Amino acid sequence: MRQFNVVVLGAGGVGKSALTGTVSSVRFIRDIFVENYDPTIEEEYRRTVNVDGELSSLEVLDTAGAEQFTTLNEVYIKAGKGFVLVFRQVSSAEVDHLRKQIYRIKGGDAQTIPIVVVGTKLDLVNEREVHRNTIQSLASRWNLPFYETSAKRNWHVSEVFEDLLRQMRSR
Ligand code: GTP
Ligand code: MG
Repeated sequence: MRQFNVVVLGAGGVGKSALTGTVSSVRFIRDIFVENYDPTIEEEYRRTVNVDGELSSLEVLDTAGAEQFTTLNEVYIKAGKGFVLVFRQVSSAEVDHLRKQIYRIKGGDAQTIPIVVVGTKLDLVNEREVHRNTIQSLASRWNLPFYETSAKRNWHVSEVFEDLLRQMRSR
């Protein structure tokens, strides 16, 4: 079975841990949604997934979004095969920054490096709706797949990791 390292990156509090906690079609890492905000330092999860009838082992690294930890991103990016870039609101500049950082550190582009862009907390969409089109058009200009999710309602979470896994298998 092939094994893939995935790194989940994004600002503090955007919902990386909630998303990671519900990875896959069967909410496999934790079967709960945690309302309380508990900032992450670093968490690693491993899980075998079946996508398109093929089993793969995913090792998902849930990183800290807080500023003081972001110097570690370089280390994580070097070790990762695929990346989930998570944002909440207007922070498209941050996603853009992460995207460029990944391409610089790994030496590649949208054709060669598996990335999925994720907008979180879709259940609270009223707070973000205005920015949706902006991110959508940015993602297509960046040539990256874009998903809007809710970890709370378990909406579109599995699509994120399935998309990334398909990209990782083919590159
Ligand atoms: P750091 O670990 O500090 O980088 O934060 P994080 O990106 O891991 O955020 P986390 O997943 O801990 O979520 C932060 C807060 O947002 C928590 O209170 C979550 O319950 C909440 N949250 C996360 N995802 C969702 C969602 O889809 N919907 C709603 N309503 N709240 C969410
Ligand atoms: Mg976290």
